[in-house]
Amino acid sequence: MEHRQSVKVLEDLSDFFELLRSCGAAESRIFILADKSTSEHCLPLLSESLPGQGRNCVLLNVSDGEQRKSIVPALHLCERLLEYSADRHSVLINLGGGKICDLGGFVASIFKRGMRWINIPTTVLAQVDAAIGGKTGVNLMGYKNMLGTFQFPEHTVIHPGFLRTLPKREVLSGFAEMAKHAIIASPELWRAMLTAEYIDLKFIEARIGEAMEIKREIVARDFMEKGDRKQLNFGHTVGHALESFMMESPAAKLLHGEAVALGMMAETHISYQMGLVSEDVLIEISTFLAQNYQGVDIDENEYHRLIEIMRQDKKSNKDRLNMTLIRGIGLCEIDQEPTMDKVFDALTYVMRYPFDK
Ligand SMILES: NC(=O)c1ccc[n+]([C@@H]2O[C@H](COP(=O)([O-])OP(=O)(O)OC[C@H]3O[C@@H](n4cnc5c(N)ncnc54)[C@H](O)[C@@H]3O)[C@@H](O)[C@H]2O)c1
Repeated sequence: MEHRQSVKVLEDLSDFFELLRSCGAAESRIFILADKSTSEHCLPLLSESLPGQGRNCVLLNVSDGEQRKSIVPALHLCERLLEYSADRHSVLINLGGGKICDLGGFVASIFKRGMRWINIPTTVLAQVDAAIGGKTGVNLMGYKNMLGTFQFPEHTVIHPGFLRTLPKREVLSGFAEMAKHAIIASPELWRAMLTAEYIDLKFIEARIGEAMEIKREIVARDFMEKGDRKQLNFGHTVGHALESFMMESPAAKLLHGEAVALGMMAETHISYQMGLVSEDVLIEISTFLAQNYQGVDIDENEYHRLIEIMRQDKKSNKDRLNMTLIRGIGLCEIDQEPTMDKVFDALTYVMRYPFDK
C-alpha cells in the first residue's frame, strides 16, 4: 500500500484559510501549538488566515528547547486539550520546527485515540525533513524519540516565507538535510548546490519544495522503513554519535544538521574505503561540506566512545555497525556493515580535514 503524505507548498499564506475550509476544519475547534519563537515570529503571519483571524483559536504554548519534547509536557498538553473539551473533530495546528511537529503530532495521535492535526513547519529542517514522513515522537529519560507513532497529519503546509526570521545557524543546519536529499537521490539538485554562487536563504527557499519532495517520495514507497526509507539515514550513524558525544561535553553543542554534515563526510569516506565511490566523489562532497560547516576537534582517544555510541544505534548491534552508504550521487547502498577500523579511519579523516570556516 502506498502512503503519500498530503503536502502543500503555499507561497501565499492567505490560501491556508481555503485549505481549512476544504477539509471542513474551518468550522472545527482549532488549537495551535507553538513555542516562544514561533508565537512571536510565525503566528502573526498565520493569524490573518485563521477563522476569526485567530480569535476563536486556543493557543497552547511550550517553551523553546529539546527538553520540552518529552512525555511530561506531552501529558500536560493532553490535559489542556481535555480542559478545553477538545474532541476527535477538533484540529491541532503544529506551528514550529521539528520539536513542535514531533511533540504536537505525538499528542494529536494519542489524544482520544487520535484527533486531526496539521503540520506547519517553520524551520528548514522541519520543512524538508522532520514534518515529512509521519514519524511523531517524544524523548524519555533523556533518550531521543523513545515514544512515538507512525501517522500522517491531515495536511502539511510549507510556507518558505517563515524562514526569514530563522537564525542563520539554524538555516544552515537544516540545509544539511537538503544536501543529504540531493546526494542520495538527485544529481540535478546536487549540481545546483555545487554551482550556486552562495548557499543563502534565496537558494534554499527556491529549492525547498524539491528537497522535501525527495523525502515524501521515498516515504511513499516504504512508510515503515523496511528498505528504501533507510536511504534517508545516510550521514546519520556517525552524525548521531557526534551529536550525542558533543551533548555529553559542556563545551560546544552541535545542531542536528551540523552533525549530519560531518557524518556525511565520514560516511562518504567509508564508502570510498569500501570501493563504492571514487576519490573524485569523496573530494567533491568533502570540499562542499567544509565550505559550509565547521569541523570539530575530538581527540583520537575518544573515537572508541563514538563507536560505542554508534553501536547503540537502533540499527546496529554489539558486533556490527549498520549504515547507509553511497555508490555515487543519487545512488545508495543500505544495510552496509563497515569494519571498525574503516570507521576509525573515517573519523580521523574528518578531524584532520582543513575546514574553511
Ligand atoms: N520526525 C522526524 O522524522 C524527524 C526528523 C528529523 C528531526 N526530527 C526532530 O526535529 C527536532 C529538531 O527540529 P528543528 O531543527 O526544526 O529544531 P527546533 O524545532 O528546536 O527549532 C529550532 C529553533 O528555532 C526556533 N524557530 C522555529 N521556527 C522559527 C522561525 N521561523 N523564526 C525564528 N525562530 C524559529 C525554535 O523556536 C527553536 O528555538 C529534533 O527534536 C529532532 O529529533 C524529527
